[in-house]
Amino acid sequence: MLNGYKYKFNDMFSNFAYYNPVKILFGKGQISVLPKQIPADARILLTYGGGSIFKNGVYDQVIKALKGYTIIEFGGIEANPYFETLMKAVELGRSEKVDFILAVGGGSVLDGSKFIAAAIPFEGGDEWTNIVLNKTKYSKALALGSVLTLPATGSEMNPVAVISKMDTHEKRGMSNPLLFPKFSVLDPETTFSLPEKQVANGLADAFTHVMEQYLTYPVNAEIQDRFAESIMKTLIETAPKTIQNPEDYESRANFMWAATVALNGWINLGTPTDWATHQIGHELTAFHGIDHARTLAVVLPHLLSFKKEDKKGKLIQYARRVWDLSGSDDELAEAAIQKTIEFYETLGLPTRASHYGIDQESILKIKDRFAKRGMKFGEHADIGPDEVEKILQMSIA
Ligand code: NZQ
Ligand code: ZN
Repeated sequence: MLNGYKYKFNDMFSNFAYYNPVKILFGKGQISVLPKQIPADARILLTYGGGSIFKNGVYDQVIKALKGYTIIEFGGIEANPYFETLMKAVELGRSEKVDFILAVGGGSVLDGSKFIAAAIPFEGGDEWTNIVLNKTKYSKALALGSVLTLPATGSEMNPVAVISKMDTHEKRGMSNPLLFPKFSVLDPETTFSLPEKQVANGLADAFTHVMEQYLTYPVNAEIQDRFAESIMKTLIETAPKTIQNPEDYESRANFMWAATVALNGWINLGTPTDWATHQIGHELTAFHGIDHARTLAVVLPHLLSFKKEDKKGKLIQYARRVWDLSGSDDELAEAAIQKTIEFYETLGLPTRASHYGIDQESILKIKDRFAKRGMKFGEHADIGPDEVEKILQMSIA
């Protein structure tokens, strides 16, 4: 309260502090510089997923680069990494007294490894409650580096992890500055082996990250806006090229860097953010196992329609600057939403939750979660249980 006026949100370019310590090693052959990044006497826990790194030669490159190091391996981290699986890595890491984690894989391996890095030195009890749900302010985490093989999440240059729990069907985000990777190797060639579906998912995830931070209301943050628009344009233009020619280095490099900067904190400095689409999406994955990016495609278009009046200023700007459209304000706002739907659909991502069999019963379960957790998202913190229900109902109509 100030002079009787209750400020609900900032309507201007706010103060900000920015810090990002991640060293990025980008380009062909960069796995070979790993020894310069990791102390020679490190006891490394090498973490990976279901085995893609054995088929595409990434494992061999890493092992060759780390000749002479002590390496303990933990494989089998699944998509939407499970706490239960990760705790096995924590036990292994504790018993082997590892002091460095090297995550090799996609966002799930990186996220899971961030949790492992925080959990190994933790002595304060249940790791789900204390670390994932952040009940305790933990003050230590092992050093972590990454070799990213899937452009999508931005996990390689942010301190965020999203962890799932098998027994309760939960999927929760955690964040701590201790979890910034020390370095991330981004070699576009390691992604040539990605199945088309994962490339499409990655493009859609990165695009949605930009939308969640951009499609709010204007605050005259010109650099952030124009930067966000350039990332979206790059993703739109690169998508068909990198899908049709997976081994075209330049388009894959552009996609990879676009996905990193979409969620490394640059575009939301001093600006409002939404994030309701991601929160609803996490529940769709938690209850129904739908791929992360695919949940976003069934939520965002309907959220934009639901919030069209509030978001009109930015929808018009997005229509003009990203899609090069012209017309009246109303036409532009509607056309912007239609273009977003087309983008997802062209990538092969359905934009209706009914495609996955989501029904009113599922919607009520998700609504109930938002109610129990007292969760409200959106740039005005006004997307709560009732609004979630309405948005999802639009997606199954
Ligand atoms: O497990 P392997 O065998 O490695 O196979 C993976 C997996 O099956 C495969 N893959 C990865 N790189 C490959 C490859 N296959 C062939 N060649 C390669 N080079 O791709 C499949 C999916 O991998 P995953 O890591 O699950 O995908 P993604 O990177 O999209 O990560 C999704 C997870 O990240 C979270 C999501 O919620 C989800 O749990 N997110 C993390 C964020 C963050 N840390 O900031 C933000 C995001 O919004 C998101 O929530
Ligand atoms: Zn995402």
